[in-house]
Amino acid sequence: MKQDYQGIEQLLARRIGLGPDKLSPRQLIKAVTIRQKACGIKNVSDYLKRLQSSAHEFQELVEQIVIRETWFFRHRQAFSLLRHHVQTQWLPSHSRETLRILSVPCSTGEEPYSIAMTLLNAPLSSQQFIVEGMDISQTALSLAKKGIYGKNSFRSHDQVDYKQFFEVEENRYQIGPSIRNQVKFSSKNLLSAWPVNHPPYHVIFCRHLLIYLDDASRDRVLKILDRLLAEGGLLFVGAVETTLIKRDNFRFMSYPSAFAYQKVPATATELTLTPPRHLKPKQRSPLKPRPSASLPKPPEKEIQLSSLEMAQQFANQGKLKEAAQSCQSYLQRHPIDAEGYYLLGEISQAQGNREEAQRCFQKALYLRPNYREALVHLVLLRESQGDIQGAAILKNRIQRLDNL
Ligand SMILES: C[S@@+](CC[C@H](N)C(=O)[O-])C[C@H]1O[C@@H](n2cnc3c(N)ncnc32)[C@H](O)[C@@H]1O
Repeated sequence: MKQDYQGIEQLLARRIGLGPDKLSPRQLIKAVTIRQKACGIKNVSDYLKRLQSSAHEFQELVEQIVIRETWFFRHRQAFSLLRHHVQTQWLPSHSRETLRILSVPCSTGEEPYSIAMTLLNAPLSSQQFIVEGMDISQTALSLAKKGIYGKNSFRSHDQVDYKQFFEVEENRYQIGPSIRNQVKFSSKNLLSAWPVNHPPYHVIFCRHLLIYLDDASRDRVLKILDRLLAEGGLLFVGAVETTLIKRDNFRFMSYPSAFAYQKVPATATELTLTPPRHLKPKQRSPLKPRPSASLPKPPEKEIQLSSLEMAQQFANQGKLKEAAQSCQSYLQRHPIDAEGYYLLGEISQAQGNREEAQRCFQKALYLRPNYREALVHLVLLRESQGDIQGAAILKNRIQRLDNL
């Protein structure tokens, strides 16, 4: 029996890149049991044979195990950087071209629709860009194509500017035609083959997939993304995924909390971004990339970041030890700052220290009881530890928050 489960894990790793340690035994057993029941297959060994021979059944299992969690304007600074990049770099030199953007995995569509809203507000005309949304899950794609959302899909605070793109009826938000026409959805396993002469994308969002992949699949996906991205193009990843990008030609962009890389010729050195001297960190305007990597570095004293911002920057660069130290020194001076504990939680999670991560998210939640993101992290941590009851209690709390 144990061998059969291992066989299933290996199949998932081979076909969709899922790392065996990314799914708890409990989650795997639950998904397999549901599918065995649906197929009327009594033992796991026979189910493994079915999986090996039936593409349809493999897809059904994938639908059970993938995590489709997403929302509009997730990491909202990524969308500010996109807009800034389009206004300052793309439009001046490509005004007659079509900007091609890929969102993979796009899950239920909130991410590609957020991209389209950002670009129409940039403003680009509908002829100036196209967004492609791809995902392996058919369930996610059919919801994306419907484009009808509830409150749960709105978790970022500043979406006032985007109301115009929805048709709202009580708690039901329907994507309007101006946005719908800009996004094309299709089914795709990111690890599968791509045509050799596929036209390049100018921007790629690949967020919250890399963390679920095993090392070999992650390498493969990064090579694919490299091939698909145009020179000078931007790659956006998830907050904790910045620790996983190790390619010479992807230069990290120091735009706070955007988690983006720019594709540069492999020899270029690190991109330097300097906040204007006279502004306090919180008022800082969008940071502008310097046009040439060979410009001299600014004197250190020009950069006046708080230790929390430094912690975020270290984390983005994959320097987790330094990130944790900065965060701890920030917390010594600001012992009741929920955001500090939240960030330390994310850093500890990236370091593989689940206990410390849990402690930090709990502390953040204690200091700010409606801290939704901390709740989401705690749910995922509890689920991965097999604490389904504990996770359910927290999920109820999230639901109550969403209904406020
Ligand atoms: C957590 S969602 C991320 C959605 C969105 N990018 C975001 O950051 O909010 C992860 C998605 O990855 C998809 N996925 C998992 N493995 C995949 C693969 N090999 N190829 C394409 N999509 C995949 C799942 O179906 C799921 O919808």
